Amino acid sequence: MIVTLFFSNISIGQEQSNDKTKNVVTDHQNPEISEERIDSLISLLTLEEKVAMCHAQSKFSTPGVPRLGIPEIWMSDGPHGVRGEINWDNWGYAGWTNDSITAFPALTCLAATFNPDLAKAFGQSVGEEARYRKKDVLLGPGVNIYRTPLNGRNFEYMGEDPFLASTLVVPYIQGVQENGVAACLKHFALNNQEKWRGHINVEVSDRALNEIYFPAFKAAVQEGKVWAVMGSYNKFRGQYCSHHELLINKILKGEWQFDGVLVTDWGSAHDTKEAALFGLDMEMGTGTDGLTSTLKNAYDNYYLAHPFLQMIKNGEIEEEIVNEKVRRILRLMYRTNMNPHRTFGKANNQEHLDVARKIAQEGIVLLKNENQFFPIDPNKKMTIAVIGENATRKMAPGGGSSELKPKFEISPLEGIRERFKNATILHSMGYASGPPVYGNVIPSKFDADSLKIAAIAVAKKADIVLFIGGLNKNHHQDCEGGDRLSYELPFGQNELINEISSVNKNIGVVLISGNAVAIPWLPKVQGLVQSWYLGSESGHALADILSGDVNPSGKLPFTYPVKLTDNGAHYFGELSYPGDSIDQYYKEDIFVGYRWHEHKKIRPQFAFGEGLSYTKFTIENVRASENSATENTDFQIICDIQNIGNREGSEVVQIYVGKPKSVVERAVKELKGFKKVFLQKGEEKTVSITLNPKSFAFYDESISDWNLERGEYIIYVGTASNNIHQKIKIKIN
Ligand code: BGC
Repeated sequence: MIVTLFFSNISIGQEQSNDKTKNVVTDHQNPEISEERIDSLISLLTLEEKVAMCHAQSKFSTPGVPRLGIPEIWMSDGPHGVRGEINWDNWGYAGWTNDSITAFPALTCLAATFNPDLAKAFGQSVGEEARYRKKDVLLGPGVNIYRTPLNGRNFEYMGEDPFLASTLVVPYIQGVQENGVAACLKHFALNNQEKWRGHINVEVSDRALNEIYFPAFKAAVQEGKVWAVMGSYNKFRGQYCSHHELLINKILKGEWQFDGVLVTDWGSAHDTKEAALFGLDMEMGTGTDGLTSTLKNAYDNYYLAHPFLQMIKNGEIEEEIVNEKVRRILRLMYRTNMNPHRTFGKANNQEHLDVARKIAQEGIVLLKNENQFFPIDPNKKMTIAVIGENATRKMAPGGGSSELKPKFEISPLEGIRERFKNATILHSMGYASGPPVYGNVIPSKFDADSLKIAAIAVAKKADIVLFIGGLNKNHHQDCEGGDRLSYELPFGQNELINEISSVNKNIGVVLISGNAVAIPWLPKVQGLVQSWYLGSESGHALADILSGDVNPSGKLPFTYPVKLTDNGAHYFGELSYPGDSIDQYYKEDIFVGYRWHEHKKIRPQFAFGEGLSYTKFTIENVRASENSATENTDFQIICDIQNIGNREGSEVVQIYVGKPKSVVERAVKELKGFKKVFLQKGEEKTVSITLNPKSFAFYDESISDWNLERGEYIIYVGTASNNIHQKIKIKIN
């Protein structure tokens, strides 16, 4: 067998095969990759070496084969930056001094930009940082659908709409992987809450799976060509998702033809035989103690370690099973650490900070602006009271596995101080929470009443109050490993805002969170901005928006219900969310987010796709390239958009499709196209957005396939799901 190892100077055999027809692996970057080469490498490995490659050797690495120069695989958490170095064998930080990075905005913010070009820039930049830090796999992005505002990890995902998440995840992955770093898409599948994530069994219809929960994963695999996928902790239809016959073997690797590596979430494997047979390729984990003085390394006890080896040796599992796993692992390696053409990466450079700031600027959402409260003129001499813990709180730490150690993080207060140099800035914390500790709530040591009294005194002295609050990355806030305990704002913020508004009517609120919250004080405040965990450039980006240096253009990637029971998952009670601790039923079915609100005619506080600007846009002359066509036609939906205000800005043209008469119950309308358009003051542009036949189809359980119904459809064109400028009808014959 002729094999050349291109990743090192060791050559086995003589020369490489020139037969490129054998290159069935779709990788444009590493021409040396071929299935033939992978198989010949496998033939050189012992059974023990092959099994070893299928499981962790430390918290974030798997072993290579040193005698052949096959490297280890190194992973790092994402998705909005490369995590600080973790110890070999426990969750402590290694204390390196050269592992700080750029913190990019959380993925909710990316989703709020509605801008695929920024998703690409995000992926490229975070991929470069991963590469610079010598990581082969970046554990992200996450595309679990936002089903409930209580999910502690929504901030890591891309919102409630499958089309939006699908459109953004593809360029993100392509951007990461251009660097020869694998993106690891997570968490497949149905990990839509943190509560009981380790064992809850999700029951959901095939239609909801295919229409709501799968599309972003499928797009990531088929269009994004993602090289790794992480299985989730939870169960689906009675089987753990990380070794799941239907989810992984039949759908992911079968129907979608995923050719990469299925990695567990950390400790999500539960059975050797299932892991072997139902699609798991690589077992990662925690809770081990690999450095004990016992003879055996604890990682040997993993399901895909010693027990797997034994079963192969006993003949209970065929050797071809491990070969197939190693084949996928080597394929991933040829794409990453065995690709001699990959770049060296970059980190902490100005371009990455610029990308982070741009995403943050474009993601911040202006939700209320009475009497043009925003923008606040930075040239004016005035007193601004900045109140709220989030004005100074660092948000890169906390939140669980996505926490970061950025080189710096500009706080909102720092950003405001820097930009509003003519104003006198007073700051008061107003309320306080404890430090972020995984799995634990540590209360603040400060006295809540004193903080409140001090804040009100400051508010009285100011011309303008900016309240900067929301959630944070503590346990039971926006954090992995637990859900929020209520829809309310925590730490007494509601009372505080009420009291401040009674002493100073000139108040604007900035909420920093990855989730919707109850905002009963809305009528009492002049302005409301939804900000996110924005990363290194947080304070700069926020000041850009508040000062009007940048016109806001972010749009909500999820619905803001008035109260929790207005949300579809909560409407059906505990069995629907959070379940009875064993099972849960997604009873709202396909009616997630705005689909639910519109279906039940429940007015949301703020709708999906909503977000104001400092200028105004009109959309006119909505037309279709064809008014009726056959089922294989692409329709162009065309409209003229004009900026009729007096400053430049961007608007997102959103296209929703509805089918009034259908054989099944359908959502009133569903997002099927969008385009972000930048317009100078007075400028007009013609926008054309393609709807392909998939945009009209529903998943038909009776045929287990997509069904494109003939007949009339309504095309809604607008700037939010609740702000439709014009509708037209088209027909599919
Ligand atoms: C999380 C994953 C993460 C992994 C490694 C798990 O608990 O669910 O998203 O990548 O830990 O830190």
